[in-house]
Amino acid sequence: MTKPVRIAPSILSADFARLGEEVRAIEAAGADWVHIDVMDGHFVPNISMGPVVVKALRPVTTLPFDVHLMISPVDAYLDAFAEAGADTITVHPEAGPHIHRSLQHIKSLGKRAGVVLNPGTPAKMLDYLMDLADLILVMSVNPGFGGQSFIPSQLRKIEAIRTMIDKSGRDIDLEVDGGIDPETAKAAIAAGADALVAGTATFKGGPDHYAANIRALRGG
Ligand code: DX5
Ligand code: ZN
Repeated sequence: MTKPVRIAPSILSADFARLGEEVRAIEAAGADWVHIDVMDGHFVPNISMGPVVVKALRPVTTLPFDVHLMISPVDAYLDAFAEAGADTITVHPEAGPHIHRSLQHIKSLGKRAGVVLNPGTPAKMLDYLMDLADLILVMSVNPGFGGQSFIPSQLRKIEAIRTMIDKSGRDIDLEVDGGIDPETAKAAIAAGADALVAGTATFKGGPDHYAANIRALRGG
C-alpha cells in the first residue's frame, strides 16, 4: 500500500553558510524529512559533511533526519551518526563487507535502517534484507553530486521493489534520490515511490520559493 509521498530536501543544495536557517526554512515550507548526504571523497568523488554537522542541526528542527552515508568502510561511523541525532541511517551494500550486519547494528542503536542501491545495483540485492530494512533508497543518479539528470532505467527497479515491499507485508519506505523535479517526481510516484529526495528542485530560487517548490514535487 502506498503512503502519502514524503519530501526530503537534500541540504547538499542548501547555502552552507546559513545551514541552520535553511533547515528551518524547509521545515516551514512543508518538508517531511531532512536528507543529509554524507560523502567521504573515497566511496564517492566528493566530500560533504560529517556527524558534527548532524549534531549541530539537531536542535534546529523536529523533522526526522534521513542520513545517507556515502562513505566506506561505513561500519565504524554508524554509532557516531546515531549519537549525533540521525533517525534513519542508510547504507550502500558496497560500502562494507556485511550489509546485513550493518543493518542489524543500526537497529540495535534504536534507529531506522535503510539500504540504498546505486543505479547499477540490482533489486535482487534486497532479497535477504527485506525482513530488516525500514527504508529502501533507489539512486536515480550515480552518487556524489547534486544537480544530475534522472536515469529513467531506475523506474523499472522502483516498480520491482514496490512489488517486493508489498509482498513482504512490512512497512518499508521506498525513497528515490537524484534528479527529482516535478516531472520525474510524478514518474517515480507512479512507479511506486513514497518518498522523494530533492536538492536542486527544493532549493532553487531561494527561501521564498521553497514552499512552492515542495508543493510542485507533490504534484501541485
Ligand atoms: C547524490 C545525493 C543526492 C543529491 C540529490 O549523491 O545522494 O541526495 O544531493 O540532488 P539533486 O536533487 O540535485 O539531484
Ligand atoms: Zn542522498
